[in-house]
Amino acid sequence: MDNLAHALVGAALGRAVADRAVRGAAVTGAIAGNAPDLAELFVTPDAWTPRAGVSYLVYHRGITHSLLGAAVEIVALTALAGAMLTWWARRHGEPAPAWRWIAACVATTVLSHLYLDWQEVPATFGDGERVMLRKPRLRIEKLNFGPLGPEVMYSLRIAQPTFGLGLLEAVSETDILALAERQKSQGVNGRPNYVWDAIGKRVALGRFGWKSNQPSIKQQIAAALHGDIGVTSSLYDKENCPAVQKDCAYQPPGNQPELVDVNWEELEFWTQALAVPARRNVVEPDFARGERVFNEAKCSVCHVPEMKAGVLPGLAQIQGQVFHAYTDLLLHDMGEALADGRPDFKAGPRDWRTPPLWGLGLSQTVSGSTAMLHDGRGRNVTEAILWHGGEAEGAREAFRNMPKADREALLKFLSSI
Ligand code: HEC
Repeated sequence: MDNLAHALVGAALGRAVADRAVRGAAVTGAIAGNAPDLAELFVTPDAWTPRAGVSYLVYHRGITHSLLGAAVEIVALTALAGAMLTWWARRHGEPAPAWRWIAACVATTVLSHLYLDWQEVPATFGDGERVMLRKPRLRIEKLNFGPLGPEVMYSLRIAQPTFGLGLLEAVSETDILALAERQKSQGVNGRPNYVWDAIGKRVALGRFGWKSNQPSIKQQIAAALHGDIGVTSSLYDKENCPAVQKDCAYQPPGNQPELVDVNWEELEFWTQALAVPARRNVVEPDFARGERVFNEAKCSVCHVPEMKAGVLPGLAQIQGQVFHAYTDLLLHDMGEALADGRPDFKAGPRDWRTPPLWGLGLSQTVSGSTAMLHDGRGRNVTEAILWHGGEAEGAREAFRNMPKADREALLKFLSSI
């Protein structure tokens, strides 16, 4: 899990455990949730070099992520947090916080980091070179509102890039269905998702999200605001408070709805119009070679290099633009290793939508991370390809068995589009 996720889980757990007894339980939890990674800074010799850094966790699942390491981290952080909170309380004439609650808050959150652990899976190239892949394993414990019902499903997801979406929204349904038809003769079975369009009140083609479960940018925005951060809109106007979360229902509401329609439309327009970064390195020989390899390995059957924008109401300028997103907006069975077991409208438990590959080489610069695939398990492009299975098994095998120079050219190409 990334450090933001650890911080959020830590903050939530910190509050759940010690909010009444410890002022600043959320902040303490957020810091303690990252303690195993913070500790890494002290035990990794080259932690501050560009190659290493916090994201390159050399000692991951080493001593810092063991129970022994966690015990040391808990003692050290409890001492530090206890001293600071006591000092603060004295300055403000408040009673000193109870150390046992500080310790409970720190211990729970440090241990939560270990639970959100990774499983490692080895992979070998045709020429014998080995790489270690990692797979997340999620355990949810100490639930505040009783056990989860048997019908509850969960699936880890990372956020997708948000540029160029107007172009993808403008591709005509006919074009997308024609791609699915063409793939049948190429040994791949891309399928459209059909989902509920809550604005148009009808079934519509799904285009956005890891399983193509959103038909439009406008609906995606309202759904994310409501589902992820509890902001109501004219589409989803009821507060997102499950029956068991009584405190949630007692909170005073903001505006009715909180997101006014004009802001919703502005958000939609901005998301549709956000431009795509330009390609780079196109004149280098490796680029052309990588592009050829990409086609030969049949990556391009799903990651379709070229599409054309049709009509998009409110953004006439993009009509007719030919663009290079490297997606087909279709669902593919990607095999058991990537499956999350969670269906979504017509998408099955092993199905994922081909993600666009444009801008891939800039994700480190823009978001400080190169995490790929729906749950972020791929630390780079090589790992992402090696996880491909199901309909993409042939392409993966082509990649695994190609000469190293071809692999490198392919990576160069992918980091330049
Ligand atoms: C059968 C269709 C298919 C083929 C063929 C295919 N891919 Fe993919 N690709 C996908 C899907 C679907 C995903 C998303 C899987 C997931 O998130 O679990 C994906 C994900 C990726 C990602 C990660 C992108 C991101 O933003 O997370 C990269 C990189 C990638 N593919 C490159 C390639 C390359 C290179 C090839 C050829 C060697 C290839 N793919 C062949 C369907 C395909």
